[in-house]
Amino acid sequence: MKTKLLKLGGLTWKVHLGRRDSTRAWKDLANSALPSASMDLLLLISNFKNQGLNKRDLVALSGGHTNGLSQCVIFRNRIYNATNIDLTFAKERRATCPRTGGNTNLAPFDPTPARFDTAYFKNLMK
Ligand SMILES: *[C@@H]1O[C@H](CO)[C@@H](O)[C@H](O)[C@H]1NC(C)=O
Repeated sequence: MKTKLLKLGGLTWKVHLGRRDSTRAWKDLANSALPSASMDLLLLISNFKNQGLNKRDLVALSGGHTNGLSQCVIFRNRIYNATNIDLTFAKERRATCPRTGGNTNLAPFDPTPARFDTAYFKNLMK
């Protein structure tokens, strides 16, 4: 784990393994309680609240998920239909995510998908 973080740059810290809330895993509960990529801000806040997490937790955990790539099928509706999206960003995504087909085409979550940095938070503030 430490090696992986170092490859992305940024800070490292010790993480204790295991969990404190249960000695068992509940797949169905996890799958039904996890926030969906299609949730808007109000739904996300409510979803997090139901799990004992606040808005600060939501922002931190969202930022932690900006490393990596997403499939076109997950964000297509948003880049073609949403009115509250940066148009330049939407146009960039449309270049590799057509209206139909290309469901598994990949695009980065943020401009620096392979770095552990604060780009997500800086763009969020803009
Ligand atoms: C845009 O929204 C309409 C109406 O909900 C939907 O039928 C259509 O599939 C959406 N377009 C894309 C590209 O997702």
